[in-house]
This record gives sequence, C-alpha cells and structure tokens, in this order.
Amino acid sequence: MENIPLIMVREDMKNIPQYPLPDGYRMRLYRPGDKDTWVRLQRVSDSRPNAGEIFERAFGADVSALEQRCYFLTAPDGCDVGTITAWYERNYHRRRWGLIHWVAIVPEHRRKGLSKPMMTIAMNRLGALGHRRALLRTETSRIPAIKTYLDFGFVPDMTSKDADRGWEMVCKVLTYPTLSGL
Ligand SMILES: CC(C)(COP(=O)(O)OP(=O)(O)OC[C@H]1O[C@@H](n2cnc3c(N)ncnc32)[C@H](O)[C@@H]1OP(=O)(O)O)[C@@H](O)C(=O)NCCC(=O)NCCS
Repeated sequence: MENIPLIMVREDMKNIPQYPLPDGYRMRLYRPGDKDTWVRLQRVSDSRPNAGEIFERAFGADVSALEQRCYFLTAPDGCDVGTITAWYERNYHRRRWGLIHWVAIVPEHRRKGLSKPMMTIAMNRLGALGHRRALLRTETSRIPAIKTYLDFGFVPDMTSKDADRGWEMVCKVLTYPTLSGL
C-alpha cells in the first residue's frame, strides 16, 4: 500500500492530556553517549538500518539540546524500551514550532498504554521550553501513532503535499471525531 507523508499540528499548548506512566516505568533524559541507545531503539522498533544517519540528520547540528529534549522510556527491569523527542522546527509556514520527533516503542512494550504518558511528558516539556504550538510528521501507515496524536489534540495539516489523498486513506481505517469533517 502507498505510504503518504502527513503533517499534524496543534495550534496551542493548552490542556495537554496528562497520562501517568504505569507502575515501574519511568522516563529519563538523554545523556552524553546515548546516541547508541537511540539508534538501537529506532532499529528495533522501526526496522531502520540507517538509524545512525537519521540521528545525525535530525539532531547532529544541536546534539547538546537532546539533554533537555530527548527522552527514553525505561522499563521496570531497567532497559530502555522507547524514545520520544520534544524537538523544534524553526520555520514552518513562517512560524517557530515545537516538534514531536522520532517516537518509538519496542514491539514487546506496545499495547500497554505507554505512548500516551510519553506524549504527556514530551508535550509538557515543549510547553516548559516556551513553545506555543506544536507539529509532527507521520505517515498514512502509522495508524497507532496517528490515533495517539489525535488524542493529544493534533489535527491534520491540510496544506501539506497530498494531504487530501493521505487523510482519505487514514479515514478508511480510523474513525475519529476530528477527522469526520475532512
Ligand atoms: C507509535 C507507537 C509508539 C505506539 O505505541 P503504543 O502506544 O504501544 O500503540 P498502541 O498499539 O497501544 O496504539 C495506540 C492507540 O492506537 C490504537 N490503534 C492501534 N492500532 C489501531 C488500528 N489499526 N486502528 C485503530 N486504532 C488503532 C490503539 O487502540 C491505541 O488507542 P487507545 O490508547 O485509545 O487504546 C508504536 O506503535 C511504534 O513504536 N511504532 C513504530 C514507530 C512509529 O510508528 N513511530 C511513530 C512515527 S510518526
């Protein structure tokens, strides 16, 4: 099936849903040297053999900012099993945005309600860092992620390339109130 890139936006940072982490899980911030952790998690979670290059492209110009923006989800046994980054976008439609970037949970820890607490922490961080709006990039194939982003008040950016076609594809498999008017 064709996989179309999508953009979702949230025009303010009000009323961020607050989901606590399940018992035993915690979130920790990136520490120097955690590039390997990030690369491993993207490889395992999303079959991305080129995760090292992706890391450099996404964060290479500002690696030190990861220490206040990139989180790892740590399971009760102490293993890092997920990641989310509260990044930034300097100029999208001539405005500065907070950016939810590179969300991933390893397959063994999915379906446990972990992506919502991860989103709570990343969105809270974007707000604390002064961002007044947020955006993210995803794809039509990523239905669990899209559902989570919709639950956090993100809506389709219909100005992005092929948005009409992409969201039509999503609507065929996901029924959601904010998608009903598309
Ligand atoms: C995205 C990701 C982090 C979500 O992990 P997760 O929270 O464990 O996801 P879940 O399987 O619990 O699904 C999240 C939500 O989508 C829903 N969902 C999952 N598959 C669905 C489907 N086919 N149709 C409708 N809803 C679906 C779930 O019911 C859940 O909603 P709920 O919380 O209201 O029950 C994980 O799937 C992942 O790492 N994927 C690979 C990387 C990726 O796609 N990253 C996002 C890039 S934009």
